[in-house]
Amino acid sequence: MIYLDNAASSHPKPPGVARAVADALALGANPGRSGHGPALEAARVILDARSAVAELLGCGDPARIVFTANGTHALNLALKGVVGPGDHVVSTVMEHNSVLRPLASLERAGVAITLVGADPDGRVDPAGVAAALRPETRLVALCHASNVSGTLQDAAAVGRVCRDRGVLLLLDAAQTAGVVPIDVEALGVDLLAAPGHKGLLGPQGTGVLYVGPRARIRPLLEGGTGVRSEQRTMPDELPEALEAGTLNTPGIAGLGAGVRYLLDRGVDAVRAAERELLAHALPRLLEVPGLVLYGPRGADGRVAVLSFNLAGRDGAHVGFALDEAYGIAVRVGLHCAPDAHKALGSFPAGSVRASLGPFSTVADADALVRALRELSSL
Ligand SMILES: Cc1ncc(COP(=O)(O)O)c(C=O)c1O
Repeated sequence: MIYLDNAASSHPKPPGVARAVADALALGANPGRSGHGPALEAARVILDARSAVAELLGCGDPARIVFTANGTHALNLALKGVVGPGDHVVSTVMEHNSVLRPLASLERAGVAITLVGADPDGRVDPAGVAAALRPETRLVALCHASNVSGTLQDAAAVGRVCRDRGVLLLLDAAQTAGVVPIDVEALGVDLLAAPGHKGLLGPQGTGVLYVGPRARIRPLLEGGTGVRSEQRTMPDELPEALEAGTLNTPGIAGLGAGVRYLLDRGVDAVRAAERELLAHALPRLLEVPGLVLYGPRGADGRVAVLSFNLAGRDGAHVGFALDEAYGIAVRVGLHCAPDAHKALGSFPAGSVRASLGPFSTVADADALVRALRELSSL
């Protein structure tokens, strides 16, 4: 199987990930709840993972990294924890449903929402974001790179706009954390949500939310934290304020190992390898007869999420044939981002999405191009 569905969940993981999960399962204990040896060891594993994620994101204080169950959980926590009735939120048409649906529910609760448009390659103009701000705008939510077209947004420019206007910036880094270098402080990001199971190379069931010093955030869940147990309210201090209930220690241990791998290899090196692979694959893909590519046609300004259609072919059939006849795993459809497909011109049919990962090879890309050439000639 040639796995080209890394935008959904990365595969394979670095070998240390499964080992870290197994070791944490063998340890068994609950971090932060008891004082015995295994519980302290579990707490050390969690702290190590927190510190690794903080280092990867350029955040000086590991306590500002909150563990969540996935990217969706982190985004809901950020949106619903910060925004309330009477506030205005600016977001974009390039968002995933894990932003669009919480925003729709906030709108029903009295929050005003503006979605800024994108150009036909999926790029959002930071000046368009600036123009959409109002005095009551509390937050801008921006998808760093589209999970449909791979289009990278100019997060630094949007960060400057938000800083200048005193508005919080929430970055959905689902397709960029671990893939492109990120420094939350340099980018002016106040909140950053990322799944643990994509570019961060951890197991499913993990995610993170970075909470910057300017963000005041209410918990989505309340319950046991192992600290300030005498209080009827959640503790104020991070990360416990936002981590009610027992943590997913095995998952977080695996996430820590995935991020340690990235720190050792260097996200710069991961990105350089991805750009090289894109520079090889993109011109070859574009030569496939009848292939329509969505998003930027060059390696700049995009990540390795490649969405396309073959003229006159149903995407579902193309995806099925790639799997059945060529052993290539891709994802077809709307990718939980209907408005992005509208902006890119691929709604309502959607597209075929092949997403490369840090272990993808030139041979994988060539196999995809060969298969698409054959399918286009049938
Ligand atoms: C851009 C984007 N945002 C958010 C998410 C949600 O992440 P998760 O599936 O971990 O909840 C995804 C996952 O596909 C995504 O691609």
